[in-house]
Amino acid sequence: MTVARFMELALYHPAHGYYARAARRSGRDGDFFTSVDVGRVFGELLAVQLGEMWRVLATDGSAVCDLVEAGAGNGQLAADVLDTAATRDPDFYDSISLCLVERSPAARAAQPGVLGTHGPKLTSSRSALPDRIDGILYANELLDAMPTHVVVMRDRLREVYVDWDDHELVEREDVPSTCELEAYLERLSVALQPGWRAEINLQAADWVEDAAGRLDRGFLVLIDYGHHAQELYASPHSAGTLTTFRRHVTGTGYARDETCVWLEDPGSVDMTSHVDLTTVQRRAEAAGLETLAVLDQTYFLLGLGLADRLAQHGGDGVAALKARLALKTLMMPGGLGSVQKVMIFAKGVGRPRLRGCGDKVRVT
Ligand SMILES: C[S@@+](CC[C@H](N)C(=O)[O-])C[C@H]1O[C@@H](n2cnc3c(N)ncnc32)[C@H](O)[C@@H]1O
Repeated sequence: MTVARFMELALYHPAHGYYARAARRSGRDGDFFTSVDVGRVFGELLAVQLGEMWRVLATDGSAVCDLVEAGAGNGQLAADVLDTAATRDPDFYDSISLCLVERSPAARAAQPGVLGTHGPKLTSSRSALPDRIDGILYANELLDAMPTHVVVMRDRLREVYVDWDDHELVEREDVPSTCELEAYLERLSVALQPGWRAEINLQAADWVEDAAGRLDRGFLVLIDYGHHAQELYASPHSAGTLTTFRRHVTGTGYARDETCVWLEDPGSVDMTSHVDLTTVQRRAEAAGLETLAVLDQTYFLLGLGLADRLAQHGGDGVAALKARLALKTLMMPGGLGSVQKVMIFAKGVGRPRLRGCGDKVRVT
């Protein structure tokens, strides 16, 4: 089977899939960290941006704002956003009609408990995007969790498949399962060199186009690991970016005994690959969205007051130290802030100036 099919089963099989079986996979006791696990500050700052977007949308008197989070997990990020909106931006809070979109039934079941007193804001918890969205659609680490094809350049483009060899899962190379893979690279004008591997995430690109089509008016905010195509399909990533996570340990390539590390224990480890920001942007624009910004998460959060928060948490108390540590994790080069990219698109609202988009195209 293709790696995309293998990932689909390993992550989302209803009975055995990694995400399908648990309400939350990230955090200190989990396998990997997202910005949400760093602490509430990520949601607090995101709430500032979402509130500003709502003000742009509300100038025509709209009373209700669809706030749709895709890949919402157990709802922790939404809860952090709502906590902040409730205390610091009550008009925005009152306008919110929350929809959480999440494939994992276990995660969906946990959402009401995590939202707590914000429960009544949740108008819909579902596995697929709503048909129409008038407001804001946002997602943190959604696209990099989508099943991807893997290709390798030999004398011509080959696809990597997963096969069963007597007693273990192995990689096999064969002709591409679809001509879309070669066409994808051609559109980007990237030339993989012999021996280079790469991921081609057709599902992520299709999701963006579909999401853009469902947005009647408003904003799309995508936060993900990723690079522009010219960097993703270049020598620093020539071994590909497909990685597994288990207990905060990464798995790629082959072990010394020649077993394929990323094929071990499917259903018990996270699998992820970096997102091709160029294709995401092109598909969003082709579907009618305007790109407002593509930037490092650090610059996005700095525009929203990350540095001011750092100054607010002075003192030597444990709480203040923890808060400063969380802020630094989001801010420091090499930390989550520089590897995560934020893409902001708009539809039907012109090109408003937004606080998070101060550095519109600043990607390190
Ligand atoms: C890496 S986790 C991120 C969870 C959360 N957004 C966070 O930042 O902590 C990815 C989540 O996206 C969900 N997911 C993947 N594909 C999806 C899709 N097409 N629609 C909705 N949820 C999806 C997974 O089940 C998983 O909960």
